[in-house]
Amino acid sequence: MKNICVIGAGTMGNGIAHVFAQTGFSVTLVDVSQEQLDRALATISKNLDRQVAKGSLTPEVKEKALAGIVTHTSIAAGVQNADLVVEAATENVDLKLTIFRQIDEHAPAACILASNTSSISITRIASVTKRPEHVIGMHFMNPVPVMKLVEIINGYATSAQVSAAIVELSRQLGKVPCVVNDYPGFIANRILMPMINEAIYSLYEGVAGVEEIDTVMKLGMAHPMGPLQLADFIGLDVCLSILNVLHDGFGNPKYAPCPLLVNMVTAKKLGVKSGEGFYTYTPGSKDLVVSPRFLK
Ligand code: CAA
Repeated sequence: MKNICVIGAGTMGNGIAHVFAQTGFSVTLVDVSQEQLDRALATISKNLDRQVAKGSLTPEVKEKALAGIVTHTSIAAGVQNADLVVEAATENVDLKLTIFRQIDEHAPAACILASNTSSISITRIASVTKRPEHVIGMHFMNPVPVMKLVEIINGYATSAQVSAAIVELSRQLGKVPCVVNDYPGFIANRILMPMINEAIYSLYEGVAGVEEIDTVMKLGMAHPMGPLQLADFIGLDVCLSILNVLHDGFGNPKYAPCPLLVNMVTAKKLGVKSGEGFYTYTPGSKDLVVSPRFLK
């Protein structure tokens, strides 16, 4: 594989484009908005600079990586020469199905179609294409340039050859692939989201405060971030939508989202991206300040 098309230039899409370009692939980055594409290129450049500053990348590799990314606002143009398309658009089923119909129509017949979805069924996405055996999940973790895992999800019809090719490709990117089957939440979010939900329930029931809950998990379990900080980092709307997928998919009340999470999303307190969740966030500051709402 040489030509990679990444659809969606948000946090995940720009991280995915970054790692492919840094490894020497030609990357086409597609988004509906040219402004978003320009922001993504600026973010990739800034993140490559971090790697140059600590000596893990040379300035030449950085320049080559940036030069290897072209942008498009049209899916048809973006996918026309792709060997692999990685879709990283907003986590919305109808949007993803529309995008996959378009990719399927315009991408070369041999092209593999991957989705970075965190919880939408790969089998469902594959069902709207004429090549379900070529459709697979390639779930990167945020921040993509730092996190080693790629969770690879085989849909019901994904062929063994396609799965093996994506495993090999993930290794080429310096990542560690883990292959799982297509059931709600796959593995990463089936395990992570109940932990986050339980942390929110503990806060809601007054068992402990935000700092105490996160400190227990950081210092007691060596997690880099506590579950409430991680929920803010992921986005509380994303956490809620994944819990709903687990709840609907298994029909088991143990996945029911905590009412506090539902309230926060309704009130548009979404975590880092909205400036407030369990903590408040000031641009440029790394200080972790508990939201006044949760101070005793
Ligand atoms: N690009 C390149 N490098 C980056 C980066 C980026 N976007 N973000 C951070 N880094 C690098 C920094 O340069 C730094 O490098 P060195 O240690 O070599 O100097 C390193 O990563 C650590 O960064 P910071 O010092 O800025 O901050 P930190 O030590 O607090 O670490 C963190 C930040 C890596 C995000 C860490 O807190 C962490 O690992 N948190 C947990 C992340 C996690 O769980 N992600 C998965 C979320 S779930 C998901 O993504 C999927 C889903 O479906 C919901």
